[in-house]
Amino acid sequence: MKIAVLPGDGIGPEIVTQACRVLDVLKTDGLPVETEMGVLGGAAYDRHGDPYPEATRQLVHAADAVLLGAVGGPQYDKLERPLRPERGLLAIRKDLGLFANLRPALLYPELASASTLKPEVVAGLDIMIVRELTGDIYFGQPRGISINELGEREAYNTMRYSESEVRRIAHVAFDIAMKRSRRLCSVDKANVLETTEFWKEIMIDVGREYPEVELSHMYVDNAAMQLVRNPKQFDVMVTGNIFGDILSDEASMLTGSIGMLPSASLDENNKGLYEPSHGSAPDIAGRDLANPLATILSLAMMLRYTFNRDDAALRVEGAVKKVLAAGLRTADIYQPGCEKVGCAAMGDAVVAAL
Ligand code: NAD
Ligand code: IPM
Ligand code: MN
Repeated sequence: MKIAVLPGDGIGPEIVTQACRVLDVLKTDGLPVETEMGVLGGAAYDRHGDPYPEATRQLVHAADAVLLGAVGGPQYDKLERPLRPERGLLAIRKDLGLFANLRPALLYPELASASTLKPEVVAGLDIMIVRELTGDIYFGQPRGISINELGEREAYNTMRYSESEVRRIAHVAFDIAMKRSRRLCSVDKANVLETTEFWKEIMIDVGREYPEVELSHMYVDNAAMQLVRNPKQFDVMVTGNIFGDILSDEASMLTGSIGMLPSASLDENNKGLYEPSHGSAPDIAGRDLANPLATILSLAMMLRYTFNRDDAALRVEGAVKKVLAAGLRTADIYQPGCEKVGCAAMGDAVVAAL
């Protein structure tokens, strides 16, 4: 199991350190893990002048899976766009063909009252968001800023999907729905945007191969509202890159905190990059405040999806459950009556629970 570890920026190194400690326990217990560190994002720009340098490219191509912290920070926001940390992240996703982003919004029962929503609204929540990750307005050409025919500056991005791109993510979503409750909701804006009307048409067509799956459709504005009104109506959701980015952050709050939401970004062969759904949290970086659980749970997803080691994944998830049941909380999920801990102490507790 060759794992490339890319801590990234901001809280990235803090949370990845804790996930690596979890990995070390599994290794000691016989999991054949080999890790190698690399740089991505701002850390890579600082070292190599490139947010996705050639050395990192070679490292991740040689690995079976990648564990990533997060990238970005205000000190990089003035760089020209191709040099920014976020471009490094988009580049690695595109380069590795990681078109399927799975973001499970699962509520641990102990955190029902940590959510900003009423406990009865979120209790029992278990949604799988399937986000297309290498197309859409994130990558569509043309894009840029130029002077128009009236001599005024204008800026543009292009929302674009090819049929094969939509078909392959549809298959991923239907396959997941088959293994769960057999309900799939495709989120679009087909009332306004041709791209997503096309998306919807292809979802319906692929759905003919999955007669047992009940396919529904919802406009993205309504989906954003329904996620806070009655989130448990959803089981598997599938949507494009930008809608999935926004809806998954929204869904994270149903689980108590964005610090709880892991993710897997997979290619056709389940080679994957695993990272928390949140960012580099510059506002709390370097202060031992970050919640490392989304990263640790991303590691569990790696064990499950890339290495087919459900046993090891369940062991890690079980340790997280135990720590929450024992009342340990980082600041983002803190509730009165619980014990407030920092990032490293949360890591200690997960290691002890393992
Ligand atoms: P963010 O997710 O970094 O932070 C949003 C809020 O959530 C902040 O208040 C932060 O403190 C909190 N938060 C996030 N993760 C947390 C954790 N593990 N524990 C406790 N609190 C946590 O989003 P942002 O502030 O919009 O972006 C900051 C930087 O991160 C930007 O440069 C952005 O481009 C980048 N970003 C990177 C990724 C990624 O690497 N996948 C994802 C999102 C944002
Ligand atoms: C995420 C992030 C990224 C995205 C950014 C940092 C490029 O928000 O992983 O959700 O928009 O995909
Ligand atoms: Mn995001």
